Amino acid sequence: MRIVLLGPPGAGKGTQAKMLAEKLNVPHISTGEMLRDAVAAQSDLGKRVKEIMDRGELVPDDVMVEVVKERLSQPDAKDGFILDGFPRTVAQAEALEKMLAQMKRPLDAVVELDVGEDEIIRRLSGRWVCSSCGANFHTVTRPPIEAGKCDYCGSPLIQRDDDKPEAISRRLQVYRAQTQPLIDYYRERRLLRTVNGRQGVEKTLEAISEVLGIDARS
Ligand code: AP5
Repeated sequence: MRIVLLGPPGAGKGTQAKMLAEKLNVPHISTGEMLRDAVAAQSDLGKRVKEIMDRGELVPDDVMVEVVKERLSQPDAKDGFILDGFPRTVAQAEALEKMLAQMKRPLDAVVELDVGEDEIIRRLSGRWVCSSCGANFHTVTRPPIEAGKCDYCGSPLIQRDDDKPEAISRRLQVYRAQTQPLIDYYRERRLLRTVNGRQGVEKTLEAISEVLGIDARS
C-alpha cells in the first residue's frame, strides 16, 4: 500500500507510521527523520537545513522533492510505503503525484490525523526522543520504563530543538498556512480518510486500519 499520513506537528504521524509500516511490511519514510539524520551526520544537506528546522520553518520544496524522489526509487519502496511528513505543501503534493504517475504507482490513500491544538502542545512539550534509535516517548502518555533512558536500546532520551515553545508555535502557523490546504487537495482527489487522532495510540491505529480496510490485529 502507498499511504501518506497527514496532520499537524505532534498529531502522532511518526508513532502511527512506524506501527503501520511494520504491520504492512513496507518502509516508513519520514522526511523529518531523514533531515534530522542529515543534521546529526553534519552532511551538506544537514548543514543547509538545521537552522530552518530549529526555527520551525519548512525546508525548500525543491530540496525535499529531490530527497523523496531518491528515497522512493530505492528497491524497498517498490511494493509500498508510508510517507510521514511529506508532502507538506501543494507544490510537494503535485511533485509527488507526478513522480508516482511516472512510476505507475499512484497513492492508495491519504490518512489525516485530526487533533486539536491544545492536545498538540501537550504532546510536543512532553515528547522525549531516543538519541540513538529515535524511539518516541512522552512524559505522561508513554513514559520510558527508566526515566531518561530508551526502553529499546538504553541510550539517553533528548528533547528535539524544534519542540521549544517558540518553534512549536511557528510550526503550527506554518502547518495552517502551507500544509492544511492539502486536506482539500486530497479530498478533491477522493484519497482523503480522516481519523480521530485524539484517541490513545492503539485506538488510533485501529481507526486507521479500519479506514484502510486492513486487519488491526494482524
Ligand atoms: P517532522 O519530523 O515531520 O515533524 P512534524 O510534522 O512537526 O511532526 P512531529 O514529528 O513533531 O510529530 P508527529 O506527528 O510525528 O507526532 P509523534 O508521533 O512524534 O518535521 C520536522 C521538521 O523537518 C519540519 O518542521 C521542517 O522543518 C522539516 N521538514 C520535514 N519534512 C518536510 C517537508 N516535506 N517539507 C519541508 N520541510 C520539512 O507524536 C508526538 C508526541 O505525542 C510523542 O511524544 C508521542 O509519544 C505522543 N503521542 C503520539 N500519539 C499519541 C496518542 N494517540 N495519544 C497520546 N500521545 C500520543
